[in-house]
Amino acid sequence: MTIETVPFEAGCGAEIRGVDIRQKLSPEDRDQIRAAWLDHLVLRFRDQMMSDDQHMAFTRQFGELEFNPGALIAKQYGVQTETSGRRREIPPEISVISNIIEDGKAIGGLGDGEAFWHTDSSFVDVPPAASLLRSLECPPPSAGGATEFLNMYAAYEMLPADVKTRIDGLAMIHPATHSSGGKAHKGFENVTDVTKVPGARQPLVRTHPETGRKALFLGRRLNAYVIGLPVEESESLLDFLWEHTTQEKFTWRQEWRVGDLIWWDNRCAMHRRDAFDPSMRRLMHRTQLKGTRPV
Ligand code: SIN
Repeated sequence: MTIETVPFEAGCGAEIRGVDIRQKLSPEDRDQIRAAWLDHLVLRFRDQMMSDDQHMAFTRQFGELEFNPGALIAKQYGVQTETSGRRREIPPEISVISNIIEDGKAIGGLGDGEAFWHTDSSFVDVPPAASLLRSLECPPPSAGGATEFLNMYAAYEMLPADVKTRIDGLAMIHPATHSSGGKAHKGFENVTDVTKVPGARQPLVRTHPETGRKALFLGRRLNAYVIGLPVEESESLLDFLWEHTTQEKFTWRQEWRVGDLIWWDNRCAMHRRDAFDPSMRRLMHRTQLKGTRPV
């Protein structure tokens, strides 16, 4: 088979065709996929219905698997966040994202609501390098549930020069208090002062460890704080950066089909999700690759 990389006409993303990712990859195919990932930030593979074992085996060909966010929070903060109904049956390297309720308990995270723009698990010191999300069940696009991705290299590069100078060397707190859906994580106190919010200290601009390119690194908006600035100044700087970053020209939108696998570079792409019709089932499984400390 010859792999084809078909870039999207959007701010990021490409579709990879001509490869069955349920099979072990040849070294050439693996290198080509890795290069496409670094070039395009987000990759889509269609028609790849697979098991969790196949999903993990595919991911492992590109690095070491990371644990689910609940395990990462427990490790860094000693806090037990809510566990989903299927947690015991599912390997800890797989996250379940779903609105399905079984025996009165959600089988996964995020429910049916909107998930706001974020970087996965940037509230821990070493966030995952990559997330690979596969669709097992999903509503039709007309019922919502699309996921959007955002090119943080482009967002950085298109900043006015004076803003680049202003944010150079600044760090911020990526808060651990809420999920990307805005739900408070169990075990954290209510935040009344963002300067004291529990979270990871991260650079506002990070250099990608493989491409060497600079990307804005914002994490999530709620309770974020730029270290060392008066709160009002931190808020207005963050408002400016978020408004600039979330422009449509930097984005690509994924309308899901069952069997899709989307793989994004968590070091230079943010993502969000639309709410969807709560009467419909949506079930996604995700693996992640271990990352390195952002600098
Ligand atoms: C996520 O925010 O990681 C999940 C995205 C989705 O459910 O499409």
